[in-house]
Amino acid sequence: MGKREETLEKLQSVREIPTSSVKLVRMLQDPDARTEEIVKLIEFDPGLTAHILRIANSAYFGGLSWIQSVREAVMRLGQRFLLQTAMTMLMSTVARRMKSDYDLPGEELWKHSIAVAIGTEAVAERLGKGNTDFFFTSGLLHDIGKFVIASHPEGWKEEIVDRVNGGGKSLLDAETEVLGVNHAEAGSFVLNLWHIPEFICEGVRYHHAPGEYPSGHIMSDNTISEFIHLADEMCYRGEIVSKENYRPSEHFPGLMDKYGLTEEDEADILSRVKERMEETLSIFQG
Ligand SMILES: [Fe+2]
Ligand SMILES: [Fe+2]
Repeated sequence: MGKREETLEKLQSVREIPTSSVKLVRMLQDPDARTEEIVKLIEFDPGLTAHILRIANSAYFGGLSWIQSVREAVMRLGQRFLLQTAMTMLMSTVARRMKSDYDLPGEELWKHSIAVAIGTEAVAERLGKGNTDFFFTSGLLHDIGKFVIASHPEGWKEEIVDRVNGGGKSLLDAETEVLGVNHAEAGSFVLNLWHIPEFICEGVRYHHAPGEYPSGHIMSDNTISEFIHLADEMCYRGEIVSKENYRPSEHFPGLMDKYGLTEEDEADILSRVKERMEETLSIFQG
């Protein structure tokens, strides 16, 4: 068995992370699931209940009557927004449980994820992509592989970090040397285990190598990984979180050209990220 297969085999253990948000994501994608079952699942988990109620009563749905029951919240949010909320919840659970320093301290990695989520959505908005629903979630989940690798009981982290700090390798190269996969592929593999919609898994998988996205694969184009890549890079360039271990992306200038984005657009996107950081962190940290 090659290194890559061995790593993916070991990642199977992450399948069993017993979070109700994973069950919720799965249920929301099942066309036969009944509202009654969805409500029951949420009510069974106090954290999930509090979160769903908070979102339903948040400024996003501003001006509407105050909601106190899960049933009403589920109706207000609707299937699509509920799915997005469940995935966000999943990421926040992962960040909390697997908090482990890697190329960034755990807390910074969580902030970076939120920043890239807002950034990916902002890039999509800037480029007039009407349906921006899933850009936020894809950005949020893009580095989930880092949490998974850094907290895995095999102790992969030490070996990788050694190669970065001592050996001067890039994080992606060190990951591939040790694991046969990088965090983008590892993350996408785990998201697949959790039944996250496939186009999101694929967007995550290619976020460091948008050019390798197989053409005509699932989505007709590769906008998700390209927008994540742009937002990821902009957040480093704008020093939204620590720039430690940062290496400029070779794909960034080409992607900026491809979409006709200017330095001014970049500055606008970054100011949007800064503007929304606090508010978003407070919704998801609660
Ligand atoms: Fe990444
Ligand atoms: Fe990232």
